[in-house]
Amino acid sequence: MGLVLDDIQMGTLLLSPMAGITDSVFRRLCRRMGAGAVYTEFVSSDGVIRSNRRTYQLASFQPEEHPVGIQLFGGNPEILADAARRMWELGPDLIDINFGCPVRKVVKKSAGSAVLQDLGLYREIIASVVESVPGPVTVKIRAGWDESSLVYPEAAGIAAEEGVRAITLHPRTRAQGYSGKADWDRISHLVRESPIPVIGNGDLFEPEDVRRMMEETGCQAVMIARGAIGNPWIFSRTKTLLETGLNPPPPLPEEKLEAALLHCRLEVENKGERRGLQEVRKHLAYYTRGLWCGAKLRQALFQTVHYLEIEGIIREYLDALSKYAAGEPSHFEPGLDEKRRTKEELRGA
Ligand SMILES: Cc1cc2nc3c(=O)[nH]c(=O)nc-3n(C[C@H](O)[C@H](O)[C@H](O)COP(=O)(O)O)c2cc1C
Repeated sequence: MGLVLDDIQMGTLLLSPMAGITDSVFRRLCRRMGAGAVYTEFVSSDGVIRSNRRTYQLASFQPEEHPVGIQLFGGNPEILADAARRMWELGPDLIDINFGCPVRKVVKKSAGSAVLQDLGLYREIIASVVESVPGPVTVKIRAGWDESSLVYPEAAGIAAEEGVRAITLHPRTRAQGYSGKADWDRISHLVRESPIPVIGNGDLFEPEDVRRMMEETGCQAVMIARGAIGNPWIFSRTKTLLETGLNPPPPLPEEKLEAALLHCRLEVENKGERRGLQEVRKHLAYYTRGLWCGAKLRQALFQTVHYLEIEGIIREYLDALSKYAAGEPSHFEPGLDEKRRTKEELRGA
C-alpha cells in the first residue's frame, strides 16, 4: 500500500487520468512501458452510489495495473465519502479526488475545479473521504478558478491538514482551459510551500520535458496526460533518460503500429469487436500521427469494422513503407488489391 507513495518520493512517472482515454487497456500498456502508477478516468460519485453499471466499469481494473488509483469527482462530501468507501472495496492502491475538471457539465454541479471556489467545501470533501477509506488519498487540482483566485498553496495546506498524502498540480486555471503554457513556476512555488509531496503536471510531451520539469521545479513525481496518448513509450524513454542521461530515439513506425495492433486486440478482448474498435479509433489517430502517408492510413483504418481488416491494412502499409525506405517505387493505396480484383472480376463477367 505504501508502494505508490514511496515511489513518488523517488520520482515516479504517473499516467494522468483522462476521460475516454485511460481505460484498463491503455493503463496496462502504460504500465508495461514503465508508468509507475496509473489512474482511472474520473468516476462520478453519484454514479457509484447509484451502482450505475457503466460507472463501475470505468472504475474496474486488472491485477497487472497495480499500483492503480481510482479518481472520484463530486460536490457532496457525504456522497463522495460513500462512493470512496465502495470504490475502496474494489482494491485500488489509492483514491484520488478530482478538483481540476473544467468541463461545464461537471462544474455546474459544483464538482471538479468549481470546488476550488469554496475551500470550505473542499476541506469538507477531503476530510470525509480521508475518514471513509483506510488507505491513501491524493488530490489533483488546477491552480485556481481564474487568475484572481490562485488558491493552490492554500489548497495544498488544507489537503495536508486533512491527511492527504500527495497533491498533483496542473498549473493552469479553470478559466485558462488548455490555452497558453502550463506555468511551471507555480509548481516550483508549491514544491517550496507544500507540506506533502507535489506531483507536477502540464505540457510534458517529451522525455526532456519531464527532466526539465523535475530539475526546474524540484517536484518528486510527474503525471503525463496528453503526451502519453498514442505514445506510451514516453514512460520507458523518460525512465532511460532519467537513469542514464541518454535520450532514446522515438519508436520506429513498425513499433508504433505493432503497439497499435496490440492496443486494438486488447480492446477487442475487453469490450468486444464493435465497441473495442470504436474506443481504439482515437488512439489510432495518435499512433499514426506524423507517419509517412499517415492521412491515407488513418482514412483506411477508420473505415474498418473488423480487427482483421486493421491488421491487413497495417501489414499492407508496412510493406509499402519498407519499399519506400529502400528507395523503391512505392505507393500506399489501401484496398488497391481488392479494387483490382473487383475490376478483373467485372471484366471476366
Ligand atoms: C481527453 C482528456 C481527458 C481528461 N480527463 C481527466 C480526468 O478524468 N481527470 C483528471 O483529473 N484530469 C483529466 N484531464 C486532465 C489531465 O489529466 C491533465 O491534468 C492535463 O491534460 C494536463 O496535462 P498534460 O499537459 O500532460 O496533458 C483530462 C485531459 C484530457 C486531454
